[in-house]
Amino acid sequence: MELKIMSKPEIYVAIKDEIQSLLRRKNNAVLGLATGSSPIGVYDELIKAYKEGDIDFSNVTTFNLDEYVGISEDHNQSYHYFMNEHLFKHVNLVKSKTHVPSTNKDSEDYYQNYDQKIKDHGGIDFQILGIGSNGHIAFNEPGTSFDTLTHEVTLKESTIKDNSRFFNSISEVPTKAVSMGLKSIMNAKHIVIIITGSNKAEALKRLMSKEVTTDLPASILCKHPSVTIYADKEAASLL
Ligand code: F6R
Repeated sequence: MELKIMSKPEIYVAIKDEIQSLLRRKNNAVLGLATGSSPIGVYDELIKAYKEGDIDFSNVTTFNLDEYVGISEDHNQSYHYFMNEHLFKHVNLVKSKTHVPSTNKDSEDYYQNYDQKIKDHGGIDFQILGIGSNGHIAFNEPGTSFDTLTHEVTLKESTIKDNSRFFNSISEVPTKAVSMGLKSIMNAKHIVIIITGSNKAEALKRLMSKEVTTDLPASILCKHPSVTIYADKEAASLL
């Protein structure tokens, strides 16, 4: 794992640059995408580069890490909605080439076929990750087996409570999600993980200790041959 410490704006440009140079080499690359606050700045930079004519997504395929179960794609808290708002609708990605895991058996993105589907596309060339303050990646919470492929997850009571601020009432908050597993993530050829803010400092410190433990799901990344950690000063404050 390579650790790069820079400011948030520098992180976003650096990751955009990595993607841009990948697409110059391979215009039909497969990107693994995340939601949450961490990657938004990267998506903004990608949109800017697209508008300036510096990036072409027409042959690119994307696979998102996760999605809630039980809310519609157009619900404003769904990850479909998030991706549309923050990236897809602003660039020339082809809708049929953008994938988000689903529990709908009739969907071509049905979660039990998701890893095979990724494989059929030649695997993920470039995976973007964020991290939870408890070390989760995607919806893989502490305790998740390192062998997991895309699977259905029951959300913890604490996560449901945390998420309830985005919904009208707690009863509307999804209790389940589908998520790429830790093994699915490890299959990506190159991984970048964005770790910013003082609330992530402990997680980064534990990650840099290089102890591989299911208590810190992200720690499995230590075993991956090509990972870049992009951290800001605040997240790196305990190193
Ligand atoms: C998002 C995801 C999550 C987030 C993580 C950090 O698709 O899978 O694991 O990356 O919860 O979220 P933020 O970036 O909002 O701090």
